[in-house]
Amino acid sequence: MNSSADSPTRLDVEMVVNGEPVRRAIEARTLLIDFLRTELGLTGTHNGCSYGVCGACTVLVNGVAARSCIALAAQLDGATIETIESVSHTERGQEILETFSRCRGLQCGFCTPGVVMTLVELDRRIETPNRDEIEDSIDGHLCRCTGYAGIKEAVDQTLGRVGR
Ligand code: FES
Ligand code: FES
Repeated sequence: MNSSADSPTRLDVEMVVNGEPVRRAIEARTLLIDFLRTELGLTGTHNGCSYGVCGACTVLVNGVAARSCIALAAQLDGATIETIESVSHTERGQEILETFSRCRGLQCGFCTPGVVMTLVELDRRIETPNRDEIEDSIDGHLCRCTGYAGIKEAVDQTLGRVGR
């Protein structure tokens, strides 16, 4: 006879991910990042620390930037999720990605999906964010490569703050 430890509880979860309805039976302990990467094959969301510190795993949950490495997928039943894979499908998303490339806002690119998702949220939420709002948003993202200058330039250009 199997013990409960051998048969972890599975839960039906439904979400809308990048505009597509999805439904899976998952273990209750499944993290959102693993749901996205393993169940759905959306590997653009990266796991840098697993502790909610680096920001690499940032996605939008019901339009709000959130760390998918510390969120249980089962708690997000019914949620709308947006990942980096959705960004290039919009004109504004294309502009953001091109700006990052032009400003050299990335080198290895590991942190980039998380930074871009935070920027997408900020871009939608505040029409003209001030310096503090911009700094607060990107403060929670760690980058080992760029020294942040290119990222900040890309963020400023995306938000139209160049020269202000
Ligand atoms: S992987 Fe989630 S914050 Fe670092
Ligand atoms: S570009 Fe390499 S970690 Fe940010």
